[in-house]
Amino acid sequence: MAAAAHTPASRPHIPVMLRPILSAIAPVQGVWLDGTFGAGGYSRGLLDAGAARVIGVDRDPLAFEMAAPWAGDYGDRLTLVEGTFSQLDEYADVPLDGVVLDLGVSSMQLDLAERGFSFMREGPLDMRMSQSGTSAADLVNQADEAELADILYHFGEERASRRIAKAIVNARAIEPFETTAQLAKVIEKCLPRSKPGQSHPATRSFQAIRIAVNDELGELVAGLEAAERALKPGGQLAVVTFHSIEDRIVKRFLQARSGGAGQGSRYAPEVVQEVAAFKLTPRKAIGPDADEIDENPRARSAKLRVARRLDSPAQDVDRTALGLPTLMTR
Ligand SMILES: C[S@@+](CC[C@H](N)C(=O)[O-])C[C@H]1O[C@@H](n2cnc3c(N)ncnc32)[C@H](O)[C@@H]1O
Repeated sequence: MAAAAHTPASRPHIPVMLRPILSAIAPVQGVWLDGTFGAGGYSRGLLDAGAARVIGVDRDPLAFEMAAPWAGDYGDRLTLVEGTFSQLDEYADVPLDGVVLDLGVSSMQLDLAERGFSFMREGPLDMRMSQSGTSAADLVNQADEAELADILYHFGEERASRRIAKAIVNARAIEPFETTAQLAKVIEKCLPRSKPGQSHPATRSFQAIRIAVNDELGELVAGLEAAERALKPGGQLAVVTFHSIEDRIVKRFLQARSGGAGQGSRYAPEVVQEVAAFKLTPRKAIGPDADEIDENPRARSAKLRVARRLDSPAQDVDRTALGLPTLMTR
């Protein structure tokens, strides 16, 4: 397929939080891995700011089709790998100076109706970032009602999860789901119309189904662990999240791996202090400034967390402490 056939007609891609990332990690040097290459905004930003080399990873082959016209300009400073960031340590040929992750879908993916991510655009109910495996249509046509309700509740924080799951099961008994519009219509009927300024009623459910189809939270935990293995002492990890479920996981992972989980409380004083693998730099999440929100409304919900790798061996994290939705811990 020619890249031009996919070119989204709408706005050009503006990388979210790139400026704050570059200032938090300055001076930019050495070998970086960009685990969510997308339109290549971070990879280019890192290379232009002084990284010697960037390994750009994405699970969506479209990302590399779109990069074909410019990727060669960087010669062997840019290597592209089709794969998931949960395995990022396997793509790193040297201990890394840095890892960046910019979670979720790209505007490129959202804008293409045929990828089926958006309730605003009629297209096949697909949502697969990698363009392979179980699609959103497979999931909503096959999962049982209780599983659907759990997905909507835990991955979308949708309070009407049971009502929507029941409506989906009733609707598919008449006609299986094939399109985004079919699903959006069934969800809309279950919820009050949104007021001005509120999000569309299908927003939370579409997010939940997308997270389930792409195992986004499983990928995130495994990706953070892989980054811990791949970074050299002094190497930096920068993660941008877009909703509270994923931010909670990153925050708790970094707290746990920076010794914070061991502080315990008056009621549980004997919690064992873990050996710190990261230092938070800065301690708190960074949000977009007003100029960035003006320029790019998609940045509104973004949170950036940055940490520096310390000189202790990598370990897997205790997953029960991460705030993973119960769907994933039982
Ligand atoms: C928000 S976009 C990244 C945009 C990029 N930072 C830029 O400035 O162009 C997220 C990208 O990450 C990819 N992605 C999401 N989860 C992934 C995973 N687990 N492994 C690899 N790629 C992933 C998506 O396919 C998408 O292209």
